[in-house]
Amino acid sequence: MGNILGSPCKIGTLEIKNRIVFESIGNALSELDGTVSQADIAFYAERAKGGVGLIMSEAISVDSVTGRANPRNLCIDDDAQIPGYQKLMEALRPYQCAFFVELYHPGRQGMSMFNGNRKMPAPSAIECQCVHEPVYEMSLEDIAYEIQKYVDGAVRCQKAGVDGVMIHGAHGYLVNQFLSPHTNHRTDAYGGSVENRARFALDIIRGIREACGPDYPIAIRISACEYLDYIGLPREEGITLELSKEYCKLFEAAGVDLIDVSAGIYETMNTAWEPAGFDQGWKAELAAGIRQVVQVPVVCTALIRDPAYAEELLETGVCDFVGSARAHLADPEWARKAIEGKGEPVRKCISCLNCMKGLMGGTGIHCAVNAQACNEVERCDLRRDGAGRKVAVIGGGAAGLEAARVLALRDFQVTLFEQRAELGGDMIYAAEPPKKDKILWYVQYQRDEMARLGVDVRLNTKATPEDVAALEPYAVLVAAGAEPLVPQSIPGIQGAQVCTAIDVLAGRRTLSGQQVVVIGAGMTGLETAEYLSSQGNQVSVYDLLPEVAAGEHFQNIIDVEKRLEHVPQHTGHRLVEITGEGCLFEDTAAGKEVKVPCDAVVLAMGMRPNQGIADQFRAFPNCQAIGTCVAYGNIACAVESGFLAAYQLD
Ligand SMILES: Cc1cc2nc3c(=O)[nH]c(=O)nc-3n(C[C@H](O)[C@H](O)[C@H](O)COP(=O)(O)O)c2cc1C
Ligand code: SF4
Repeated sequence: MGNILGSPCKIGTLEIKNRIVFESIGNALSELDGTVSQADIAFYAERAKGGVGLIMSEAISVDSVTGRANPRNLCIDDDAQIPGYQKLMEALRPYQCAFFVELYHPGRQGMSMFNGNRKMPAPSAIECQCVHEPVYEMSLEDIAYEIQKYVDGAVRCQKAGVDGVMIHGAHGYLVNQFLSPHTNHRTDAYGGSVENRARFALDIIRGIREACGPDYPIAIRISACEYLDYIGLPREEGITLELSKEYCKLFEAAGVDLIDVSAGIYETMNTAWEPAGFDQGWKAELAAGIRQVVQVPVVCTALIRDPAYAEELLETGVCDFVGSARAHLADPEWARKAIEGKGEPVRKCISCLNCMKGLMGGTGIHCAVNAQACNEVERCDLRRDGAGRKVAVIGGGAAGLEAARVLALRDFQVTLFEQRAELGGDMIYAAEPPKKDKILWYVQYQRDEMARLGVDVRLNTKATPEDVAALEPYAVLVAAGAEPLVPQSIPGIQGAQVCTAIDVLAGRRTLSGQQVVVIGAGMTGLETAEYLSSQGNQVSVYDLLPEVAAGEHFQNIIDVEKRLEHVPQHTGHRLVEITGEGCLFEDTAAGKEVKVPCDAVVLAMGMRPNQGIADQFRAFPNCQAIGTCVAYGNIACAVESGFLAAYQLD
């Protein structure tokens, strides 16, 4: 592999030490008054330390009165905020990493409740079909006012010593709304023609250029395609690559130094920050297309995960910089590892969107594979005080692997018992349905880490108290996982035609060419249905709850449902009995019984923690149960549980 990744490149007059951009990620870590917090500084410093050449900040509000993303959204509309940015820049200085502030206003995609319960401003009063917030059409005075807000924000950045600014013209926010024929129906100077729709962005660019001088780096982030076809509209009703090319030529002429190419708007959100169904590089053609029509450097964001793929994008002229947000959330050392190229395991983002779920749900960002992300202040002080003390970890699933990794990093001597023939636990099964194979990246990372860190892995070994006692351990962490829930009270549930989703995904039960009923429409049920369907079965799904995949992040549901259009799903159906002919349900809304003939029944009714196994080891010193054997949850919960137990062990 060559190493363009590690080579410098200029943005205007500013030299960036390498080609790796940590893309913007709203982290909801600011102080409540919108100033930079210690948590923000630690978050960015961790990625700078990890080797990225350029950090794009989270979307930072240029108008905290009408345009805040959430209560912990950084702002840049008051001089009192400047010292915070100065402190941040000081913290980054040792790493020679450039930092740009992304100037942002959400427009119609903002939440009224974070903005004085007012209507949200937009080029046209067209409600966003994702957030459904009240909107009003901006007057020419409103437009002039907001343009000045962007310019003032840039001036403050320059005063604070921030290396440059990036105008957020992507993802359906205010600047994007002006650019798009989908959201801009104006007939005045800011709507109608290409030039008019570009005017809002161009006025901002020119205003910043004039206020900050010829050398201050200005970038613009665009959604080079809004992919309206993803929601069944003609793609041409929104921004297409061809239209973006026209815009980018205008932006370049107006003085931008960098174009950062992204995609999607809230209504087509899965094309902006993608769920698991999207493959690495799927939208790289957008950056490649833009690069053909401009001279300024171009950043490509396209689900870039493999360092080798990133290098290939540079080598083949797709872009000048490779941008990723989640790659660096999942592994803050991605850049260093990629540039050094020594094959050190990279912890790749698995596109589960747990981070976005937390951000949108107001509970904060929790990365499924990196429990330190957005907890840098509290969780990045790994004490290397294990001093060779022995720890037994029982179970090599998500929690056990993470605990073993962190303990080994802390210089404990770790023995990991796994009863199966391979490490990974239920993650192996979770990776089986179509499009879920990214989970195996994480499994492989942990396997590699076990080898690299010298963990004594004992496969095919069901740990007994005697095995553990022989180690004379200082601590025992039990990560015994969970078992499928099989409610014995339902008549017929023990029938030969009944099995669990895990049986299917683990290959213990092979079904093909059959009529299959899946009981349970949680994500496991839906994904198992997809798997069974891909094996040539006629599948239908039933659940007692009134909605499918209750509690799951909506983007993941949309993702899987797009591939499940041919699979009937019935909610509000209580399983009453399983017979030789099929299933008997009660349709709870209609209050009547429904008979569904089938050849096989697959249960995806949830999991029950294996608490009993943990009880066998309670007598050992510092014994702790972790992961899904305590409370059933997703990979994120298990990883965090394993991390914390190992991190906090005294
Ligand atoms: C939790 C989360 C927050 C994000 N916040 C921002 C943001 O503030 N500004 C922005 O331009 N993009 C934001 N993005 C989009 C990312 O910068 C990036 O374009 C997207 O995640 C796809 O790239 P990736 O797969 O490398 O993460 C966010 C994405 C995620 C997942
Ligand atoms: S939470 Fe999931 S999608 Fe988000 S960065 Fe972590 S692994 Fe990637």
